Amino acid sequence: MTGEPIIQVKNLTAGYGSTVILKGINFDVRAGEILTILGGSGSGKSTLLKNMIGLTKPLSGSVLIEGVDVVTAEGQERLDVLRKIGVAYQSGALFGSMTILSNIALVLEEFTDLPREAIEVIAQMKLKAVGLQAAAYKMPAELSGGMRKRAAIARALSLDPKILFLDEPSAGLDPITSAQLDELVLELSQSLGITFVIVTHELASIFAVADRAIMVDRESKTIIADGRPKDLRDKSEHPMVRQFFSRRLEKGNA
Ligand SMILES: Nc1ncnc2c1ncn2[C@@H]1O[C@H](COP(=O)(O)OP(=O)(O)O)[C@@H](O)[C@H]1O
Ligand SMILES: [Mg+2]
Repeated sequence: MTGEPIIQVKNLTAGYGSTVILKGINFDVRAGEILTILGGSGSGKSTLLKNMIGLTKPLSGSVLIEGVDVVTAEGQERLDVLRKIGVAYQSGALFGSMTILSNIALVLEEFTDLPREAIEVIAQMKLKAVGLQAAAYKMPAELSGGMRKRAAIARALSLDPKILFLDEPSAGLDPITSAQLDELVLELSQSLGITFVIVTHELASIFAVADRAIMVDRESKTIIADGRPKDLRDKSEHPMVRQFFSRRLEKGNA
């Protein structure tokens, strides 16, 4: 099945009520690919991501995951498609009153019939996968921002998803911690073959991890660039794309 698209976004119009945020969006994501979604603030990056995971219903068009429509799938088919997806939001969104281990165990308790001991072992394995074994019994508030992001990724991994969606994973992190998170993404990509869809602003991250980047634009409400980051930087003639890469480069070199 290599080369088959794992995600297909087809003629998607996304928005809220009568407000259109993005229209006529078409792209595929290939299995194993690391795709980044770029765009200015408020351009609809999170909206696109929420449509891709079936959390927000498209105004029209569809999103298929391994050929199954994430919106219209029902019953077992819906559960099966949702289990292929892991999501880590910007804030991390861990339950503050539970240990890190319990945060992960909770997902396994909810979605599997595994006995408690097995759940503990799996939760520990997920923490190990993100380098957080030592923090299993800590509370979220006791962790650094970077560790909380890792914990959120560990939780997103709990049901062995094929695809991980990350919404601005490096937001609020210093450059070194952000680079460590990039390393983790590459490691998970290589060791587990996970497909990644990552919303990010960080130029360093884009060049470190992305096979491909798409950029959405608030004004035209469409995709204005789609390709390898290097090609977008060097070859795009779209002013917004040029501005994004040149401004960020200046900042990164400062
Ligand atoms: N739940 C919502 N209801 C109505 N409008 C929303 C909602 N979420 C986001 N928006 C609007 O949609 C636009 C795109 O938002 P968003 O997808 O969060 O952008 P980005 O992630 O690129 O910063 C913004 O104008 C935002 O105010
Ligand atoms: Mg956003």
